[in-house]
Amino acid sequence: MSKAETPGSGVVVTGAVSGIGLATAEALAESGRPVAVWDIDAERSTAVAADIASRFGVPTVGVGVDLSKMANIAPAWAQTRAALPVVGGLVHAAGISLAVPVEELTEAQWDAVLNVNLKALPFMVQQLRSTLAAQPGAAVVAIASINASLGNQMNPAYTASKGGMLSLVRSLADDLARDGIRINSVTPGYILTPMMQPVVDYLEPGYFERPVMLGRMGAPREVAAAVRFLLSDEASYITAAELVVDGGTIASQRTR
Ligand SMILES: NC(=O)c1ccc[n+]([C@@H]2O[C@H](COP(=O)([O-])OP(=O)(O)OC[C@H]3O[C@@H](n4cnc5c(N)ncnc54)[C@H](O)[C@@H]3O)[C@@H](O)[C@H]2O)c1
Repeated sequence: MSKAETPGSGVVVTGAVSGIGLATAEALAESGRPVAVWDIDAERSTAVAADIASRFGVPTVGVGVDLSKMANIAPAWAQTRAALPVVGGLVHAAGISLAVPVEELTEAQWDAVLNVNLKALPFMVQQLRSTLAAQPGAAVVAIASINASLGNQMNPAYTASKGGMLSLVRSLADDLARDGIRINSVTPGYILTPMMQPVVDYLEPGYFERPVMLGRMGAPREVAAAVRFLLSDEASYITAAELVVDGGTIASQRTR
């Protein structure tokens, strides 16, 4: 991707020490964008930021932040701004998946999932908005899930958080457009990450491949490429959209 098609501003990536967030931080750095590595794992945030800086030669900062508590966002943002003066992007990839059916679900479990996956997004946008508005081409990407559209008895809190994200993004898009900021969702299918690995190991071989038209699970970098596109000027007329990166899963009639 040429520099002309990609704003050179920094991007805050949440959940950036693992899986899709990590692959996104790497993909952005590869195209020359500074990155702020936000994650609840403070030690890994610092280590990943240093590793990305040395491999790709871009400014980075590692920020340990628990996004289940909204009060943590302002200090994380202050630390980021001190290290990266120009920020023009946000990717919310931090998330947890708690497989608990509704009969067993506690209020604390519901809050734990909804807070990180969904509630943190509008409050991060609130903090970053004026800075993003000052950067031409600024954009936000929220990582949703095919579970936003596919019901799952095992995962009511997770599916609700991701369904909420799709509709939240549309409302934020209407608002942020007034400041020239775009926001879109990326909906991954079955992606082989540390979140998915224990489930893959538990279920019979082929469980996640059979319903997928392309016949395989996705790699984190294949989601990261879509995120990088939506953050770039090549996506300058795309906002309020959902980009599905699932190898043909939602659209498939194949059965397990
Ligand atoms: N892997 C998949 O198949 C898949 C499919 C659809 C959607 N997703 C979504 O993609 C995103 C990334 O998932 P992944 O598979 O890469 O998972 P992952 O577990 O590999 O990475 C998630 C990251 O979020 C961080 N995190 C968790 N709680 C946090 C908190 N309170 N504050 C800050 N950081 C926190 C974790 O430390 C971790 O680094 C999630 O939102 C997930 O729901 C994943």
